[in-house]
Amino acid sequence: MSKFVSRDTFIPYNVPDITEAEIDEVVATLKSGWLAKGPRTVEFEKQFAEYLGAKHAIGVNSCTAGLHIALVTQGIGPGDEVITTPMTFASTANTIIHTGATPVLADIDFQTTCIDPAEIEKKITSKTKAIVPVHYSGQVCDLDRIYEIAEKHNLFVSEDAAHALWSRYKGRLVGNSLQGAASYSFYATKNLCTGDGGMFVTDDDETAATARMYVGNGMSQNAWNRYAKGGTWKYDIAVPGFKYNMFDIQSALGIIQLKRLEEMQEARLKIAAKYQKAFGAMDAIDEPFVPDYTTHCWHLYVIRIVPENLTIDRDQFIVELNQRNVGTSVHFIPVHNMSAYTERFGYKPEDFPNAQKHFERCISLPLYPTMTDEQVQYVIDAVADIAEKYHK
Ligand SMILES: Cc1ncc(COP(=O)(O)O)c(C=O)c1O
Repeated sequence: MSKFVSRDTFIPYNVPDITEAEIDEVVATLKSGWLAKGPRTVEFEKQFAEYLGAKHAIGVNSCTAGLHIALVTQGIGPGDEVITTPMTFASTANTIIHTGATPVLADIDFQTTCIDPAEIEKKITSKTKAIVPVHYSGQVCDLDRIYEIAEKHNLFVSEDAAHALWSRYKGRLVGNSLQGAASYSFYATKNLCTGDGGMFVTDDDETAATARMYVGNGMSQNAWNRYAKGGTWKYDIAVPGFKYNMFDIQSALGIIQLKRLEEMQEARLKIAAKYQKAFGAMDAIDEPFVPDYTTHCWHLYVIRIVPENLTIDRDQFIVELNQRNVGTSVHFIPVHNMSAYTERFGYKPEDFPNAQKHFERCISLPLYPTMTDEQVQYVIDAVADIAEKYHK
């Protein structure tokens, strides 16, 4: 029997990595007299674009906003279809509905957990206008195959890069040399966090200009321009846009977090390497598979239980981890399980068998830069203890 001893204090699933540098920059912003979208947002956008090697980066108040804007820039609306994955946070699909278009789900590849390009091809009709692939957990979709399909059928690609800052596809940063657009999330749990927030990125000048306009209510010029010395009070509403812009308190956090990204990633990678080694040796646990083409940013660390070797299911495994003071999450309850979608589209769990199988087995474990070596080892030991206790 293992000699596992349960700790007294809880290891949270996620803790944002905020240092005095972020706090100082936020305080400086508060004292600067400019809280809304202004100089810090302009600076953060510039630095983010430079980091990715992208032509345009537009600060938005969430990745959800970015995903919506991406489709809006292409004029996607009623009568159109957009293909995405069921294994995502629902906002990926919600934003398709917001345009008036119909989301069409294509199942994942069970091994990579990303949308399966072969399934995308099966779902293409004369109404299909775009594909929204999700780089699940920081794992990168097979972009060459997806862009090949997009080109063949003249489809726009809006990459959901909520999880994928720092990830690389065949050595190239996600967001670099984009043929479509990519949207990032800076939600509190993300690899770069601003509380809430996001970035819309594209290399296309026209897409960027349209996005900028829609993000700021459709105004022909923003407050930053209007209120500066020499600015004019006059503006036009060129399109009925949205209030989606990022603002300077968020950008203050973003500027410092971007400076610290490499250091934070180094810590994530070390933890992921320990997890991969430990869980790779357990026959009741499947560790994440990373294909050759992905350099993983480890936004999420998602194990899958192996039901054939266990007497308990995923839900009970989570309860057992919680009893051992380990916080977890589940990514994701798939879109086709959500009542808004079952009621509207009549989806059944078995419609997307790979996403369903992944959902029924997956557990996201704590992985964040401030985790101590002791906490990492404890998570490994707790999983090992449960796997041993309930082994068939
Ligand atoms: C895959 C995916 N896409 C989109 C989003 C939406 O991001 P945000 O909360 O920044 O709108 C999330 C949120 O976590 C996500 O996980």
